[in-house]
Amino acid sequence: MSDFSSKNVNNIEISGIRKFYNKVCQVPGAISLTLGQPDFPVPLTIKEAIIKAINEDKTTYTSNAGLLELREEISTYLKNEFSINYEADEICTTIGGSEALLSTFTALINSGDKVLIPTPAYPAYESSVKLLGGEVINYELKEDFTLNLEELKILIKEEKPKILVLSFPTNPTGALLSKENKDNLVQLIKEEEIIVISDEIYSALCYSDEYYSVAQSEEIKNKVILVSGFSKMFSMTGLRLGYVCATESIMKHIIKVHQYNVSCAPSIVQYGAYEGLKNAMEDVCFMKKEFQKRRDYVYGRLIEMGIDVVEPLGAFYIFPSIKKFNLSSDEFCHRLLFEKKLAIVPGSAFGVGGEGYIRISYCYSMKQLVLALDKLEEFLKELVILKH
Ligand SMILES: Cc1ncc(COP(=O)(O)O)c(C=O)c1O
Repeated sequence: MSDFSSKNVNNIEISGIRKFYNKVCQVPGAISLTLGQPDFPVPLTIKEAIIKAINEDKTTYTSNAGLLELREEISTYLKNEFSINYEADEICTTIGGSEALLSTFTALINSGDKVLIPTPAYPAYESSVKLLGGEVINYELKEDFTLNLEELKILIKEEKPKILVLSFPTNPTGALLSKENKDNLVQLIKEEEIIVISDEIYSALCYSDEYYSVAQSEEIKNKVILVSGFSKMFSMTGLRLGYVCATESIMKHIIKVHQYNVSCAPSIVQYGAYEGLKNAMEDVCFMKKEFQKRRDYVYGRLIEMGIDVVEPLGAFYIFPSIKKFNLSSDEFCHRLLFEKKLAIVPGSAFGVGGEGYIRISYCYSMKQLVLALDKLEEFLKELVILKH
């Protein structure tokens, strides 16, 4: 039969994270630290609000952008927590951060448009751009996974990309944007003909006292689109609620894509998130503290094992280097899974810049983390013995 599929769709694949997760399902009893799915239940107040919304039959479409009271609450939250100013009519709720990203890319990209994407990075950026016929231009990061502004400047001048993707706190590395880099970036964006998509879905999980984002700058507000959501913050990955913020001239296009694709985000979950922003911030604080303890534990164990690793400052991932073991990241993770029944994601799933690394997701229970790191230690000891 002829292949009826779109060329662009043919050009992308299921994400390496999911591919590896599917492989893990074939190994009974394996410990999996593959997904970015916190192990906490959804905060009780949010669950109750969702149930109440169902019982009150609040199950119809909402406006395309979402409930006004929720968008007002998001606006207040962004202002108070991060000094980011978007009014309710500059915010559109979406089906997770994923839809926010794809709707935004769809609203902006013409075939052949160039998009600067960091490597390593969350795989959806590259695939979304390819899906829309855009051209991906990767920019590399420094050894500590922070921005290499000099390289970025050169790339922008040479390639003249339409879009720059930023993502802090970063999946898979846990890196943050520093004040200095933020200030320099703002200057660069001001000077260049470029629009920025800043994915800050992990902003509620930042372990430093200071938070910097290009979305804080009023000067370049019309050149920045902020993507975020509640999957990670409220530990509600399956409830599918995110949002995108942009000034009117861009939002009017994003909302058209959003409307024809999904109409609106799920009504009952919007009521849940509204309640969450008002009354579940203590739960968020608790989860963050727990993730920080887990980060400290995992980082400490990796250092004890002699692994080269950068301490993550946000999100719930750590991205150690495996370069000294002379195995590709795929081979390393495949062997670890079949020899020790431990699943972690090969760095190659995050693009060319991820090769030579592995991503450990530490949003799992301490018990699982202890077991997992014991297994990793055993595996590494055997690798080293075999080498000598
Ligand atoms: C950096 C980043 N952006 C966006 C998303 C998508 O989030 P959601 O599950 O809300 O669609 C994820 C999910 O892992 C992510 O890591």
